[in-house]
Amino acid sequence: MLTLEVSKSRVPSLDFKGEKASFGRYGIHDYPAMLHYLVVRSILKEFAFGKKVLYDPFCGSGVSLCEGLRFGLRVYGTDINPLPS
Ligand SMILES: C[S@@+](CC[C@H](N)C(=O)[O-])C[C@H]1O[C@@H](n2cnc3c(N)ncnc32)[C@H](O)[C@@H]1O
Repeated sequence: MLTLEVSKSRVPSLDFKGEKASFGRYGIHDYPAMLHYLVVRSILKEFAFGKKVLYDPFCGSGVSLCEGLRFGLRVYGTDINPLPS
């Protein structure tokens, strides 16, 4: 039998408790499954250097795309769920 051990750990640099996810432009639309923009920003800080394009095939309301623009990336997104009007 396969036993899986899972442990939880907090990464302080990715702890944005108290920072509203719906801040600024991210409050325009009340999408139910938005990434926290500060999580996306910290990932892009680490991985966007030298990159030109960001494609998010699960872009939802587009947090990743807006953050990608801040890093000067050309951004593309698709999602199975059309935004409700
Ligand atoms: C966590 S949300 C994405 C958050 C987004 N990346 C952002 O920056 O805020 C996950 C998304 O995956 C989409 N999704 C789930 N299954 C999918 C599929 N088969 N094809 C395309 N999108 C899908 C959902 O509609 C949902 O918007």
